[in-house]
Amino acid sequence: MYNSKIIGLGKYVPENVVTNNDLSKLMETSDEWIQERTGIKERRWVKEGDGDTTATMGVKAAKVAIERAGIDKDEIDFIIFATLSPDMYFPGPGVQVQHALDIKTVGALDVRNQCSGFVYALSVADNFIKTGMYKNVLVIGSELHSHGLDKTTRGRGVSVIFGDGAGAAVLTREEDTSKGILSTHLHSQGEHAEELVVKAPGMGTRWVTDILEDDDKDDESYFPHMNGQFVFKNAVVRFSEVIMEGLMTNKLKKEDIDMLIPHQANLRIAQFIQKKFELSDDQVYNNIMRYGNTTAASIPIALTEAWEEGKVKEGDTVVLAAFGSGFTWGSVIIKW
Ligand code: ACO
Repeated sequence: MYNSKIIGLGKYVPENVVTNNDLSKLMETSDEWIQERTGIKERRWVKEGDGDTTATMGVKAAKVAIERAGIDKDEIDFIIFATLSPDMYFPGPGVQVQHALDIKTVGALDVRNQCSGFVYALSVADNFIKTGMYKNVLVIGSELHSHGLDKTTRGRGVSVIFGDGAGAAVLTREEDTSKGILSTHLHSQGEHAEELVVKAPGMGTRWVTDILEDDDKDDESYFPHMNGQFVFKNAVVRFSEVIMEGLMTNKLKKEDIDMLIPHQANLRIAQFIQKKFELSDDQVYNNIMRYGNTTAASIPIALTEAWEEGKVKEGDTVVLAAFGSGFTWGSVIIKW
């Protein structure tokens, strides 16, 4: 048995900055409301004509991660791509990355676990490496939310939260099993699937010919629906549980955490967890103020920035944790 470890990290965010004041020109909202409830000051939304898509942003982040990993693209044995906003209904963006990076014909897996997507993807990568099946795995989280949001007052409870961007990590084999990813922990609770959902396009209830005939501009099933307070209440409980599960599995205490990188869902959720685990501001990395919630991309973007700023160092105990639509949640415990 081996462990896996992260040897390269990269991120890409679109240049176009959208402030809370910009949003207040599109819908009835305010900088004050958004900052008070979520901590978000601005987010990046792709600009028409720039050519950014979920796949292309993922490719850009991946190129940086591969270069920093110091390996050749053809040493990558497997690609995992987490997103809730793929360019196409199918195939998913994993194969687009394989083609765009001109990597030999390795497997490409798409992960559909929304805000927990990157944690799920890391867990899959880690286990493929642990068993010896693959040596180097490329993991990407990327989202283009801005094309799918209702940017009118009707959608303001959701659309002010989400941003576009991508992050990527290259994992490789680590022979010392006291280092690298120590454990991953995944959960789901499908009874709450419709508390945070985009229902369409889906083949479950409607014929595609009916959808095309309807042409209903008021059809809300294409937009995200979120029962915000219910999601919030579940998030704070599940984040705490799954971090504790990870610590206990590795016989660690909360005092052992050097850096917690929570999925950037809402600054208030991160602050709640910080208080609960009695962590200082230096022990929790947040960048939701600048990017909003980028779903599967939020953890790899934050991890990349924390690493770039020297806040994640060799020997550190790093905890990643996520919660989101599904509901799904999970954690990753890393000895860096
Ligand atoms: N601007 C101004 N007012 C608004 C806005 C807005 N953008 N959005 C909603 N409001 C209004 C509502 O209409 C409501 O008005 P009313 O009292 O007159 O009816 C009032 O503000 C309060 O609305 P709530 O939805 O109750 O606001 P809340 O305090 O719950 O904050 C929020 C909303 C920020 C969404 C919060 O519930 C939250 O962060 N939830 C968790 C989100 C999360 O963690 N998601 C998981 C990850 S996402 C994923 O997996 C895809």
